[in-house]
Amino acid sequence: MAKESALFLRQFLRSPIATGAIAPSSRYLAAAVTTPIPERGDPVVVELGPGTGPFTAEIQRRLGGRGRHIAIEINPLLARHLAERHPEVELVVDDAVKLPRLLADRDAPAADVIVSGLPWAAFSAGTQIRLLRAVLGAMRPDGAFTTFSYVHAQALGPAISFRQRLRGAFEEVVPGRTIWRNLPPAFVYHARRPRPVPER
Ligand SMILES: C[S@@+](CC[C@H](N)C(=O)[O-])C[C@H]1O[C@@H](n2cnc3c(N)ncnc32)[C@H](O)[C@@H]1O
Repeated sequence: MAKESALFLRQFLRSPIATGAIAPSSRYLAAAVTTPIPERGDPVVVELGPGTGPFTAEIQRRLGGRGRHIAIEINPLLARHLAERHPEVELVVDDAVKLPRLLADRDAPAADVIVSGLPWAAFSAGTQIRLLRAVLGAMRPDGAFTTFSYVHAQALGPAISFRQRLRGAFEEVVPGRTIWRNLPPAFVYHARRPRPVPER
């Protein structure tokens, strides 16, 4: 755990915008962000930005060997660490903005659940828009999308813009309760009923 925190902090110091946090998420946030994973069947679960893997471990626990778990991580060092810890996950070292193509390349159907660990509030408007389009283009119409946001950042411009874009992208966006046992405290957005991907 201490090793993972140190690795994560080093990546933050190297690339603060893409890493977006100084510490991995807690298991309490991991539990909250993975609740839409169905308890039965063989769902396709896509994880964006797994980092050192706190959400990965919980997704694996919930799947218990069912379905598919495809994780997209842009940072090769974090990806290498994740591959060692979770060889059972289909790990793709690439940019989540290419998500529809990355799934097609692996003959994967549209996702039932997309769990995002991406630092949306650290991204420019253009990156937020491109990534949300990729999410919409890669999930089933009855699928679910979850992502988290830090409580302290809620009043800041990029977080407000992301919230507005998320509400534009999905018919249903429900914020969960605050997870105090996370550094820093955070909450989850539960989004369903994706709207059609807008024309360019
Ligand atoms: C805030 S960290 C979250 C890591 C982990 N999910 C957690 O909660 O501890 C964001 C992660 O997203 C990755 N990331 C950032 N931009 C990305 C992109 N465009 N595509 C894929 N991964 C990305 C970063 O390298 C980092 O691992």
